[in-house]
Amino acid sequence: MTRILITSALPYINGVKHLGTLAGSMLPADVFGRFKRAQGFETLLLCATDEHGSPTELAALDAGQDVRTFCDEQFAIQKKASDGFNLSWDHFGRSSSAQNREMTQHFARVLWKNGHLDVRTTKQVYSNADKRFLPDRYVIGTCPHCGYDRARGDQCENCTRVLDPIDLISPRSAVSNSPDIEIRDSTHLFLKQSNFVPQLREWIDAHRAEWPPLVYSIANKWLEEGLQDRGITRDYDWGVPVPDDIADGQLKGKVFYVWFDAPIEYIGVTKEWAEANGKGNSWRDWWEGSAAKDVRYFEFMGKDNVPFHTVGFPVTIMGARPQEEWKLVDRLKGFNWLNYDGGKFSTSQKRGVFMDTALELLPADYWRYYLMANSPENSDSNFTFDHFAAVVNKDLADVLGNFVNRVTKFCVSRFDGKVPGEGCYGEDEAALCAELDARVKAYTDFLEALEFRKAMGELRAIWVAGNEYLTRAAPWTHFKTDREKAAVGVRMGLNLVHVFGHLAWPVIPTAARAIHEAIQPAPAIIPWPDRPMAEELDELEHGLVIKAPDVLFAKITDEQVAAWKERFGGAP
Ligand code: 2FM
Ligand code: ZN
Repeated sequence: MTRILITSALPYINGVKHLGTLAGSMLPADVFGRFKRAQGFETLLLCATDEHGSPTELAALDAGQDVRTFCDEQFAIQKKASDGFNLSWDHFGRSSSAQNREMTQHFARVLWKNGHLDVRTTKQVYSNADKRFLPDRYVIGTCPHCGYDRARGDQCENCTRVLDPIDLISPRSAVSNSPDIEIRDSTHLFLKQSNFVPQLREWIDAHRAEWPPLVYSIANKWLEEGLQDRGITRDYDWGVPVPDDIADGQLKGKVFYVWFDAPIEYIGVTKEWAEANGKGNSWRDWWEGSAAKDVRYFEFMGKDNVPFHTVGFPVTIMGARPQEEWKLVDRLKGFNWLNYDGGKFSTSQKRGVFMDTALELLPADYWRYYLMANSPENSDSNFTFDHFAAVVNKDLADVLGNFVNRVTKFCVSRFDGKVPGEGCYGEDEAALCAELDARVKAYTDFLEALEFRKAMGELRAIWVAGNEYLTRAAPWTHFKTDREKAAVGVRMGLNLVHVFGHLAWPVIPTAARAIHEAIQPAPAIIPWPDRPMAEELDELEHGLVIKAPDVLFAKITDEQVAAWKERFGGAP
């Protein structure tokens, strides 16, 4: 049987993530991972914090902390938010781990040995005041394209053009604000990406049908624009050190660029997972050589990350061949942006709802369902509190929650809280089973295809079909005149509740468990219902004692919406 390897793009360490990051990588990875586990696949679901790079050093500086302490604190905060959202990683690691250092240095050595790295002298900004080189964001100045006077060395926030720090007009240090700056030569390693164009072309084209059009077109555009060789080292301290045995120690004291080591952490975190769980060398069987032939590898990420995963990381992997055959991604799911009230979520400007504050407002399942149902899949999508409240109140409270409540309460009050055994399923029940066979198949197929919006549409339609059946069966009307008929309706209703608990588990795991446990205890992984509905919906033993759960989803009130809008602000 195929094994399933899943990674989510690694969230940057600086600051709790907003709902956009959750919706565009971590949450869909978790939903898909749960779905695969439910189907019985051996699944490894991994994530980690992305800790290196100049933004981390700068954020630590801002916080008045040394970088290691800053990262330790931020990691604890992110781990807590991730747990709060029930993201069920097999391991949530850190790119600053010893395992990632080892893997990153390993790949660099193999690339060096295989002739894919060059040593080149580049012009870098040096700050006399800070006595250090100022890479990327460490330099601030005027954008040569649009004149914006606070452009950063890597990119202008105003016109979004990618910059080289030496292009900035009137540059100054982001560390000390000093303009006492000069241009000095500095030696760096370059990955010869241009060597890989034919291989990349072949690999990307071979995946055209498997990747969303968005992913293919981004990858294709990068190739067509011509691949530049890429500097993979930097002049700062916080990162994976370049080992001395590469290029005769010419890179002494330098570290690898964050976008070189971060994707390698997908492998590093697998090693972290194995070591934390006493699994020895088995991590390698998920990634390398013939032992990993049965692994299907899925990656989830926002669209800005796509080039690094369709070009950058694959080049690292291809460059280690033929000695080592590391896995390349099979299915790459890229997402557009989730916007906040028509504008951008912004970590730096604290605009929008963040994972920690979201959980202060409502339990994780409310957010999980909404974000999956409005996944920014085929275009950007927009979060507003009005829409969020409307969706929660309708789909979760009225359709799902109300159904579970109606059936279980009625069973408790009229049938002693036991699954009634009287009567037989008839035409109405057969029609329902036929409809649900089709809908459950569609739901399963959409999840398999990573089409989450459509999958959620089917899940909702399944709940609606249950409601409509119950309205037609109307056991409360028949109870006095035809108890047998009422019993059939209640029995089917309870079986539906049970199946709903199974189907909803990947998306809303806490509520799904409560729903399942209204009927009977639930296992840790609630399995996928894969038998015909005529069997699944005739599963519960007659006489089984059930209970009515507490309200599953409280409605969001107009007052709450008004207060939240006020608290979190609207368009900038
Ligand atoms: O864009 C981001 O949030 C990056 N931290 C994603 C890194 S993904 C991987 F390559 F590590
Ligand atoms: Zn600009």
